[in-house]
Amino acid sequence: MLISTLVKLFYLVGAVAFVWGLRLLSSPDSARRGNILAGIGMGVAILGALIEPIIGASNNYLWILVGFIVGGLIGWIAAKKIQMTAMPQMVSVFNGLGGACATVLAAAELTKFYALEASMTTGQLGIAVFTLLIGAVSFTGSMLAFGKLDGMIKDKHVILPRHGLINLILLITVIMLLIWLTVQGHQAGFILAGVFLILSLIYGVSFVAPIGGADMPVVISLLNSFTGIGAAAAGLIYGNQIMLVGGILVGAAGTILTVLMCQAMNRSLLNVIIGGFGSANTAAGAATVGDQVAKVATFNDAAIQMFYANSVMFVPGYGLAVAQAQKTVKELDDLLEANGVDVKYAIHPVAGRMPGHMNVLLAEADVPYPKLLDLDDANAALKDTDTVVIVGANDVVNPAALDDPSSPIYGMPVLEVWKAKNIIVLKRGMSAGYAGIENPLFFHERNRMLFGDAKDSIQKLVQEVKNM
Ligand code: TAP
Repeated sequence: MLISTLVKLFYLVGAVAFVWGLRLLSSPDSARRGNILAGIGMGVAILGALIEPIIGASNNYLWILVGFIVGGLIGWIAAKKIQMTAMPQMVSVFNGLGGACATVLAAAELTKFYALEASMTTGQLGIAVFTLLIGAVSFTGSMLAFGKLDGMIKDKHVILPRHGLINLILLITVIMLLIWLTVQGHQAGFILAGVFLILSLIYGVSFVAPIGGADMPVVISLLNSFTGIGAAAAGLIYGNQIMLVGGILVGAAGTILTVLMCQAMNRSLLNVIIGGFGSANTAAGAATVGDQVAKVATFNDAAIQMFYANSVMFVPGYGLAVAQAQKTVKELDDLLEANGVDVKYAIHPVAGRMPGHMNVLLAEADVPYPKLLDLDDANAALKDTDTVVIVGANDVVNPAALDDPSSPIYGMPVLEVWKAKNIIVLKRGMSAGYAGIENPLFFHERNRMLFGDAKDSIQKLVQEVKNM
């Protein structure tokens, strides 16, 4: 009695910590605390699950401990070693493993049901079969997403002719099988359940295959919500409240994030799922566009322009993350501020390679949060900005999104940097960004290119400014 009350208390504390942790994650200032709090909540919840009185459970403590240590070590080392730019890949793998867990739990229950003739109500059976499906889709889908994000798998290698039709047939087949397995009970048999599992695993790969590389974060977020739903369904199978609550929170958060990301790109989820954007194979090397040639600045010119400006707006992008230039940018920001320049940062919601990527990097460099302007505020402020400095961003400042209906990114809201008085673009060469398309901004009459690795270039600018 005492133990079961204690378990309930642990679960309650865990659930409150999850919710409060999520709440804190909504601002970069408090996100670190939110993450720690949710982690502690999970620890308390696991403790609750371990002391829950289940017959025969004590025999399994050794197995649980081994799993705990091995899994914990892998997680710890992976999180320590991972580069910030590879974070989406890690999220994808961890998410896929969550889906795999849900599938394994459902498979264990279904094995008992079919092989040992255990009893289940139709409702329980339906939930178990559904968990098997959603976990499997999340697992294989996330693994393919990982391969694509990491550049190991190219979009064109996994897309079949009439892929949309194949996906539709697969989806209808698994849904029919799900209903059949639920309604037929023991009669459907172990083999059909196995076929269903294999088809679900295949569907996960096939579902993600046509989606372009640049859309992967949307897909990962969607798969994340699938994993949450899978975990919630597994919680229902076991009557475990904390699994249910945790799963619902992950499912809801993943769904909301998916919707927000689609809104940020001004595209429907269906458009993302059907694919196309990001797999476009437009030629890179914008220097060769017609007879247009981009103008190049010197570090001295650029430093003078920034030092004597009233206002400077940095636009960070993926290149800032690659170069790890955030702290150097902050150093330059401090020098400019000391000279009375008003420095702000324009943050595009899909700059970089994951939601909040730029916010995380700038928070790491101690850039005060109020200096960060979101898309709308930045666009409103840009017309009064003297110099805009684009640090390794490309697609998020591409005017083609507004004025070229043939562009794959047409319709995506972008930072309208050309409204500023002067534009400086810091990148290594004229390569395209993630969407693989040219950027007419580089040939804008008020734009100057400053070639080089973003961190090296900013360091040179810091030096020039110090010499003034
Ligand atoms: P991108 O359009 O990908 O452009 C980044 C630019 O950085 C490249 O053109 C590259 O040019 C430059 N670069 C790379 N390494 C550099 C370095 N060390 N120093 C200086 N420059 C460097 O980046 P963006 O503007 O941030 O746009 C993000 C894109 O990714 C969008 O298309 C978005 O839809 C997509 N996406 C977003 C997310 C999320 S949720 N944030 C996730 C996945 C994909 P050089 O090679 O010439 O230097």
